[in-house]
Amino acid sequence: MPEIRLDRFISERSEYTRSQIKELAKKGKITVNGTVEKSCDKKLDPDLCTVTVEGRTIAAEKFKYILLNKPEGYVCSTDDKDGETVMSLIPPELRTKDMFPAGRLDKDSLGALLITDNGGLAHRILSPKRHVPKIYIVKLDRPFKSKYIDIFTSGMEIDGGERCLPAKVSAVKNCEKLAFVELKEGKFHQVKRMFKSVDNNVERLMRVAVGGLILPENLEFGQCIELLHKDVENLFLPLDFELFCSKYFGIFSAILINK
Ligand code: URA
Repeated sequence: MPEIRLDRFISERSEYTRSQIKELAKKGKITVNGTVEKSCDKKLDPDLCTVTVEGRTIAAEKFKYILLNKPEGYVCSTDDKDGETVMSLIPPELRTKDMFPAGRLDKDSLGALLITDNGGLAHRILSPKRHVPKIYIVKLDRPFKSKYIDIFTSGMEIDGGERCLPAKVSAVKNCEKLAFVELKEGKFHQVKRMFKSVDNNVERLMRVAVGGLILPENLEFGQCIELLHKDVENLFLPLDFELFCSKYFGIFSAILINK
């Protein structure tokens, strides 16, 4: 197998970030084949090395990350008691036995869904404390009103009491019934319930970004791709909501309207 850097070996197989790995290496907490290794750029062959961090052996197998463009009609679960699951859309050669959907989209929702066997990373994406934003485009049954912006930003109440974290919302240029929404949490049917609270209804919903990872426009519904390490790192990069809306409104409104 080709050689890779020590920090990459660890970050692809664990929850440690590159900066944590650097710190731990400096403190002598990393070993390669039983010897303390302080330089993160040391090259090693993943098949031939045993690496430990703080006394814990890092498994040689890499985690897998799949980005699926979820079509309607599939449930985000590994259990098919409520219908066909998104797991059935993953080709066998990309599947591992511990994979699961890192996040929930409703059965009738569309768009970006990460599927992985890295439980720690899934937790980081989903935890409201981590504030990884998710952006959705929605088709409403009534025109967007500018008053939604303040209501969503102020941390609205839904269903007469449940308080939401402040969220962003923006009209989609030239389409009065389309809107972008950015949430940093994932309550049950949250986007739908937020619009219901302002007397509107979501007719169609598509997730278009998770953190800084944007749904590729050429990924068809039902198709998936394996993510590279740099794409996974994108999940934790900031994405400017306003800039995103102005850059992608044409692409994603066309996809949603033509669906
Ligand atoms: N909010 C919803 O209402 N549904 C989804 O599928 C995702 C977010």
